[in-house]
Amino acid sequence: MNGESAPGVELPLVVGLGGSPGTSSVTNQLMLACLAKAADLGTRTEVFSGDELSTLPIYGATATSAHNDLADRVVDAVRRADAVIIATPGYHGGMSGLVKNAIDHLEELRTDDRPYLDGRAVGVIVSAGGWQAAGAALVSVRSAIHALRGWPTPFGVTVNSAEQRPDEHGHFDERVDGALGILAGQLVEFVGWRRGAWPRS
Ligand SMILES: Cc1cc2nc3c(=O)[nH]c(=O)nc-3n(C[C@H](O)[C@H](O)[C@H](O)COP(=O)(O)O)c2cc1C
Repeated sequence: MNGESAPGVELPLVVGLGGSPGTSSVTNQLMLACLAKAADLGTRTEVFSGDELSTLPIYGATATSAHNDLADRVVDAVRRADAVIIATPGYHGGMSGLVKNAIDHLEELRTDDRPYLDGRAVGVIVSAGGWQAAGAALVSVRSAIHALRGWPTPFGVTVNSAEQRPDEHGHFDERVDGALGILAGQLVEFVGWRRGAWPRS
């Protein structure tokens, strides 16, 4: 789902990265719901879900294994992005290895004019089996975003998947839905501020 643009105006791009493999992944469904809200606010969206990210090579495992076609597409999408959503399940007090590996691939952006996540708002979504893990994983993702020079949004979405599961259509309850709306709104607001910044030589 993508918003409509005025003639000659390129819509901001929001890229979603994360989730777990499988259609029942709560994290994945949260990410898709948030991207849909960002699209409703007038952005284009691209998504790399858990199924896709599970086929990324382990970054840094060997000198030659870092690239495949998907790795190049992930890096290229983030390069073009105005804002990013990173969604992870909480695993053992942090983000999942699958999501961390996807983030590690962003090392390929180190020599860009806008290196890593520079200049991009980054929203974080976590689902975990308990509140403690959800909070800890949120912090772990924000640490990585800071290391990559990104701008974590003030608001993050944490969901306790033992209590707040989506229905068969992937819809969450009003509270979760409202939280995803706030996150999408903060991403779009940041993009607007950046686009409206005065010219600096
Ligand atoms: C390897 C692994 C480690 C996990 N560690 C924790 C944990 O430390 N604390 C917790 O509350 N839930 C933990 N969980 C549960 C997941 O965070 C929870 O089920 C999450 O909602 C899964 O998201 P998904 O449906 O997108 O895969 C773990 C699950 C797995 C598979």
